[in-house]
Formats: sequence, C-alpha cells, structure tokens
Amino acid sequence: MAKKLKVGVIGVGGIAHTHFPGWRNSPDAEMVAFADIDPKILRRVGKDQGIETLYDEDDDIINNPEIDIIDICTPNMFHRPLAVQALLAGKHVICEKPLAPTPEDIRMMIEARDKSGKKLMTAQHFRFEAKSKSMKAAIDRGLLGNIYHARSWMLRRAAAPVKDTFVYKKNSGGGPCIDIGVHILDLTLWMMGHPKPISVSGITQDKLIHQPGAFSVWGGDIPKDLDVEEFAAAFVRFENGATLILEVSWLLHHNTTGEDMRMWLYGDKGGALWPDNDILTTDNKIRQQFNTKLQLNPSSGEAHAAECIAFADCVAHNKPVPVPPEDSIPVIGILDALYRSAAAGKEVTLT
Ligand SMILES: NC(=O)c1ccc[n+]([C@@H]2O[C@H](COP(=O)([O-])OP(=O)(O)OC[C@H]3O[C@@H](n4cnc5c(N)ncnc54)[C@H](O)[C@@H]3O)[C@@H](O)[C@H]2O)c1
Repeated sequence: MAKKLKVGVIGVGGIAHTHFPGWRNSPDAEMVAFADIDPKILRRVGKDQGIETLYDEDDDIINNPEIDIIDICTPNMFHRPLAVQALLAGKHVICEKPLAPTPEDIRMMIEARDKSGKKLMTAQHFRFEAKSKSMKAAIDRGLLGNIYHARSWMLRRAAAPVKDTFVYKKNSGGGPCIDIGVHILDLTLWMMGHPKPISVSGITQDKLIHQPGAFSVWGGDIPKDLDVEEFAAAFVRFENGATLILEVSWLLHHNTTGEDMRMWLYGDKGGALWPDNDILTTDNKIRQQFNTKLQLNPSSGEAHAAECIAFADCVAHNKPVPVPPEDSIPVIGILDALYRSAAAGKEVTLT
C-alpha cells in the first residue's frame, strides 16, 4: 500500500474540527501536526486529537519536510500569505473559504501553485452535499436549459459569529458578505456554469448591529468597535446576459430560526429551488405546469469531511481538484465589487 500523505493543520480552534474526521477517514492521508498562534488552543486540541507534533510558529509546520499537505483554517486575512508560503515550500494546500478577500490575493496564490506544481483547493463544502451534487448533475444534463436569472440568499436572524476572526476587517476582510456570501455565491456560479460577471451594483448596511442590547443567539457580546457590515445585497450582470440578485445577513428581521439559505435558478426550460430540490417546468403544448422533486444522488458523507477526503484523493492520484482556485476569482471578484460599489454609491464594472 502507498505511503499515506501527511497533513498539517494550521488554525485548530474552530472549523478545523470539521476537517479532522475527513483526514481520519481518508484512505490517502493522515493528520500528523497542528499549528496555532494560541498556545492554549494548540495544546488542548492536540491532546484531544492525539496529535503530538505541535507548532507555535506557522513557519515550522510549513517547513517540516515530512508534511505533504497543509490545511489552512485560520482567519481569512492569513489565507494568502500562508498558502503562498506553503506552496513555495512544496506543500499541497487546501484552504478554508473565502480563499482570500480579493481577486488579486487569489491570483498570487494561483501563481505560487503554478510555480510549485502543487495542488491548491478552496474548501467550499456545500458543493460536497448530496443535494448540491444532484442539482448540479441535473443542470449539466440540461434540465433547466440556459439559466438566465438567479436569486440567492443566506440570511440569519440575530446570528452573528461574535469572534475576532469574523468581526474585525483586519482578520476577515469583511462581514457576512465575504463570510457567508461566499458560500451561496460559489454554489450559484457553479450551478450557472460560471458565466463571466461584468458589473455589480451593491449595498451594505449596519442598521441593527450597533443598537443598544444587540445580541447574537450564538452567545458572546457584539463588540462595540466591530467594523464590518451586517447586511449586503447586490445585483450582478453577466457577459452572457444572465443576472443575479444576492442577499446576505447576520442580523435581519427575517422569518428564520438559524439560517435561511436558498437559491432559485431560472432557465429557459425550467426553474429550480435549492436546497428544497424543487424542479418547475411547463409543457406549452398541453398547457400543463409540473412541480417535481429532484431525485438525490447518494450522499458521500458529511460535507466538510468529504472535501478533505476528495482533496487527498486528488493529490494521491494526481487528479484535478474539484474546487480549483480559478472558480474563486469570480466569486471574490463579485463580493469585492459589491464592497466597492457600496462605497462608491454606484454600479461598478468588472474586467
Ligand atoms: N466552511 C465553513 O462552513 C466555515 C465555517 C466557519 C469558518 N470557516 C472559515 O474558517 C476560517 C477560520 O474560522 P473559525 O471559525 O475556525 O475561526 P476561529 O477563530 O474559531 O479559529 C481560528 C483559529 O486560527 C488560529 N489562528 C489565528 N491566526 C493564526 C495564524 N496566523 N496562524 C495560526 N493560527 C492562527 C486562532 O488562534 C484560532 O484557533 C475562516 O476563514 C472562516 O471563514 C468556514
């Protein structure tokens, strides 16, 4: 049996916990080392997970010659510098979403990947859910025809992630726009077949988050000096004539407990609602409308774990990665343009 690829995880405090089962269950990889800037978290998680090789310095895990794969689970602003350093040190890299806060950062990461000949993948776990894979396969079979409009949202009611990682721009690059907008937008562009965005008209709002007593149902105080938005919306035009309406929020007087994450896709042969898997078609000849449920493909397990297993499989067997960084350029390009449009108070064009 081939030697297993050795994985080092950087930033083990939060989302990394959803990656651990993936590395443990991968036939191709094993987790061997952790790094974190917080020594308490590093030692606690190391002990819990039975990992003895622990690094306080990112340089040391990246330069460990035994390690083949670096898994980046740090706040967003560290993604680009760590990924570039790891790639140039000869490691394959899987990196949490958003791959980086600007398209320029992502281009630098792609340049490092190409220079090193190693693999780089964005961890967009929603793509690995059975309901997403089934919808994508149906669209690729032509079920909806040409998709000419989409409406996508990810809306929460008083559910801001009140951690330094998310609420300060110096760590995150932005609020819900970049935090959760990246999830629903990545899925939407993937379903639409990655049309080229050409313009964005966007707004951001902070009407609720600074009100006295504003809270998050996830606990913790909302810091007074928080400097990111709570709501963002955009209208996007694509080169092929298609359009998209996007809405994201951490706090909104919206009828949801937890999260309302949905995507409507409208094509010239049919419409679809994700994640409900509703398919809507019309037969003009018999003047009949049809509402059906999409048959789901079998699940490949919990999505965060599945993305790690898939990445290790691609590295071990030299296959293309399922979420290449090139897919993240238009996603982050639109979100970056949303912020620029909101600041300018007018539509901005993308090149
Ligand atoms: N895919 C998802 O569903 C999902 C969910 C939550 C978070 N995320 C992403 O994961 C990343 C981390 O979010 P989180 O919720 O785990 O945050 P977190 O604050 O819970 O954990 C981040 C960890 O990284 C450590 N860290 C910070 N800077 C570091 C550095 N330079 N080097 C090493 N360690 C460092 C912190 O000490 C902490 O332990 C973010 O990019 C976020 O967008 C993804």
